[in-house]
Amino acid sequence: MLLDALNPHPADGLLALMSLYAADTRRSKLDLGVGVYRTEAGATPVMTAVKQAEWKLLQAQGSKSYLGPEGDLEFVRALQPLVFGATLVADLGARLTGVQTVGGTGALRLAADLVAGASPGHVLWLGTPSWPNHTPVFAASGLRVRSYRQFDAAAQGFDLAATLAALERAGAGDLVLLHGCCHNPTGADPSAEEWEQVIEVIVRRGLLPLVDIAYQGLGRDPESDAWALRRLVECVPQALVAYSCDKNFGLYRERVGALYVVAASGAAAAAASSHLAAHARASYSMPADHGAAVVRTILGDASLRAAWSEELRGMAARVNGIRGALAALGQVGAIELSPLARQRGLFALLPLPAAAIERLRIDHGVYMAGSGRINVAGLSMGAVARFGDALRTVQTAVAA
Ligand code: LMR
Repeated sequence: MLLDALNPHPADGLLALMSLYAADTRRSKLDLGVGVYRTEAGATPVMTAVKQAEWKLLQAQGSKSYLGPEGDLEFVRALQPLVFGATLVADLGARLTGVQTVGGTGALRLAADLVAGASPGHVLWLGTPSWPNHTPVFAASGLRVRSYRQFDAAAQGFDLAATLAALERAGAGDLVLLHGCCHNPTGADPSAEEWEQVIEVIVRRGLLPLVDIAYQGLGRDPESDAWALRRLVECVPQALVAYSCDKNFGLYRERVGALYVVAASGAAAAAASSHLAAHARASYSMPADHGAAVVRTILGDASLRAAWSEELRGMAARVNGIRGALAALGQVGAIELSPLARQRGLFALLPLPAAAIERLRIDHGVYMAGSGRINVAGLSMGAVARFGDALRTVQTAVAA
């Protein structure tokens, strides 16, 4: 029997870590695992503007009838100026199209389905380390993933030389996955000058960029965090942008995202849009409505939007405060934490051996990904020193 022949699939590392954390009864435990924002008190609350938008929707929404495979197109349009800026949206005109997706992951999968549908086995270049789910998502669509190193572990920064060398090897039309901001898992984004060099190769070699942007506003602010994406889109004839509202609107389990296509012409954008609808219809028919309706409501209401912006600003400030406090610890055992001050977003990648990561969990109740990634937002100011002590202790223990 076919199903009897299946062996258990290995669990997703991050999701398995969530279960281990939940089962730990120690009050002092620290969750630096899955990428969700946390307050000083360790909570991931529903944002105030989201609650208010939900209340408005509850009163105003008159129907829950089907929308269609594109989802809520008002949401897709309302989000455009936040992602691309109003000027670029106007300049792109009919060359820009989009659909609502099932979170950022759904946007990545739909992008991959679109490309693989047009060109089976198309090559995608992925700088590593990257989000562990990138390769499974792209491979599931039948793309061929080629990886290259994009992180200089010694310098704890973006590896420009390795990235440029890989892109020079890519074939014309190959897809290139780029993190728009707040790199997951390293926090190390290219500088503006480095972005210019990456964009120059992409344009010259006719590569097709796929930008994954899931943390807009959690790095510096929404405008600065979108700078690279906008600069890239200005320069290339075509691009794909996978956007997530799960983090910056705190809507994680509602799965709210969008896939935007920038095509060379309005006609090409319309054709791409029809393929996106067909791919969505074949895999889940239509995305769920609620989260997108919440985002649309917030973006369309001046006072809700102001409240959301202010709360997001506070979230980024807290994350950057923790980054600063970690960076101020300097050298902790063999690990230099000062680069965390110039990295951005929720994540940093610590070069820790697996045995030390295990000791952190077992001896100190500190949960972090097996890759050495920490979610900075999982720390409170009060816990930074304790985390530093635990980091030093486990390194000494595993070296002994
Ligand atoms: C993460 O990287 O922790 C988040 O993007 C959550 C996920 O789905 O992996």
